[in-house]
Amino acid sequence: MNHEPIPFERLNFFLKQLELDHQAQERLAPWRQYFMDQSHEFGREFCRYFLAIERTRHILEQGENLPRLEKVLGQWFHALFSEEFSQRFLTYLWNSGVRHVNLSLDQRFVNLGYAMARQFCHRIVDEKIPPDQQEGVAEVVDRMLDFCVLVATDSFITMTSRCDRQMIEGIAHQVRNPITIIGGNIRRLQKKTDPASPAFLAYEMVLKENQRLERMMGDIAMYTGMFQEDAAPQLCSLADYLDLAHRWVLQRGLMQGVAWQPELPSGFDQVLCDPQDLEAMLRYVLENAAEAADPERPLVEAASGPDKDPHLVCLAISNNGKTPEAMDMDEILSPFHSTKPMGTGLGLPIVSLAARRNLGVLSLEPNPEGGAVCRLSLPFPPKD
Ligand code: HEM
Repeated sequence: MNHEPIPFERLNFFLKQLELDHQAQERLAPWRQYFMDQSHEFGREFCRYFLAIERTRHILEQGENLPRLEKVLGQWFHALFSEEFSQRFLTYLWNSGVRHVNLSLDQRFVNLGYAMARQFCHRIVDEKIPPDQQEGVAEVVDRMLDFCVLVATDSFITMTSRCDRQMIEGIAHQVRNPITIIGGNIRRLQKKTDPASPAFLAYEMVLKENQRLERMMGDIAMYTGMFQEDAAPQLCSLADYLDLAHRWVLQRGLMQGVAWQPELPSGFDQVLCDPQDLEAMLRYVLENAAEAADPERPLVEAASGPDKDPHLVCLAISNNGKTPEAMDMDEILSPFHSTKPMGTGLGLPIVSLAARRNLGVLSLEPNPEGGAVCRLSLPFPPKD
């Protein structure tokens, strides 16, 4: 059953991009019946085509799939030429993608089905439409089929990423309970142990690893959560969100006694960003900068200013300390890559994902005076 809302706004955007407007419909109008008359034949030919392919034959030979598919595909072909992309047709089309995912049908075969449908339609154009109209009609039909492929792909991506997400969330949920139980028991055992004994140190190590797993679960939930809904950008004050992130980092025992005075000149003190995403990005960046700063004289600074791209504001957060050796962004941003013994390897991938969701960019480079500079470029609020 599909509980995923149908993304009409996105589907209508595809329709607009493909210029499947009233004019295109008018061009096709006199010839629609020729296509509709071939609906049954389309269903039959579609099934013959996929029966000849070993990998799809076994799907069609299951239960009543074959006669049903012949009927279903005939109906789809008829609806394609009679329904003018109504909301009802969009729902029907999108849900066919859901059905295919539920059947574990390889999306490549669905795309092959559209290629076959295109050849079938071109044959009708060649055989039935007057030569001077053929090019125009074929062009509209191609765009209609391109649109169907986009809808099927949209539905496939939405449904498969929902399955992946549910799987990851399920694992995170299952792992969380044992982590809590292990943590509680080890803490109890440690209390009864002599702090000078090797067992005490061993418990300490287990607790640290347990905490890392706990953080990992939190980060995984944050990472997968970012795929659930589109970002909802709002005007956000950088000072407010940096302050929130700073307080959070202080609570974690970092940046204690480090002078903190972000420089946010007027005109570069606000960004258009989803508030939750901004909060998460600044927390992770600040935490990373604080953890990696020189332990003797830690320094973390933040300053905003213009970006290379005039549509973005650049917020640079830098630290001092050891300059990271290789700054290969692909490596740094790949999930679970971490140079810190207790790192989850998800902090910067989350920041990068959140930046991209908000049409921004994350970059990282060595700080000439030692340490690193993390640049977060985010959209500028429109000037009135
Ligand atoms: C042009 C490509 C395709 C289109 C437009 C299409 C369209 C549809 C539609 C509209 C449904 C009905 C959804 C519903 O009412 O729930 C459906 C179901 C189904 N499709 Fe596809 N399909 C395509 C490709 C394929 C391919 C390549 C196969 C496998 C060979 C396939 C196998 C099935 C099966 C088994 C069902 C379930 C039939 C039933 O039990 O009602 N489809 N498809």
